Amino acid sequence: MRVIIVAVVFFIALSGFYYQDNYLSESVKRGQGIFEMYCIACHQGDGKGIPNVYPPLAGSDYLLENTEKALEAVKYGLQGEIEVNGVKYNNYMSMLGLEDQEVADVVNYTLREWGNSSDKVIRIEDVEEVTKAKEGATAKD
Ligand code: HEC
Repeated sequence: MRVIIVAVVFFIALSGFYYQDNYLSESVKRGQGIFEMYCIACHQGDGKGIPNVYPPLAGSDYLLENTEKALEAVKYGLQGEIEVNGVKYNNYMSMLGLEDQEVADVVNYTLREWGNSSDKVIRIEDVEEVTKAKEGATAKD
């Protein structure tokens, strides 16, 4: 009996890991497609952007260290002065109109491409938190 319980608990734990791995790999795969459709024109296929015009995502401290801000940028666009890896940019990224899950997918991709090796796993709930905070500032409910 005890062996069965241990086996069942082990199996449940294992399927939890499997689920997470599966979520991440599927999300990154979708994210690559979204990147190639929506982001590549500015941030470039090598993720390095264009010096002084489009900031890099490859090795970007903004993306890797302030991931919530990056989620907000990808969801709502970004303008005004920002600093990425010590370089100032003062340009404009338009709002791309992505769904919350698409934002999570493309950010999961960028966190793991071009030598980026974040272990953050973005879920739709993380994007919803950002949108709630943002929309809470303007909506009354
Ligand atoms: C029209 C060009 C353009 C497109 C398309 C675009 N961006 Fe940007 N992105 C910018 C610019 C310009 C900035 C800096 C804005 C500023 O100076 O305030 C920026 C900033 C960022 C930042 C924060 C700074 C950094 O380098 O880490 C992230 C993250 C980001 N973009 C991700 C994306 C993703 C993901 C997509 C596609 C879903 C995308 N961008 C599409 C132009 C673009």
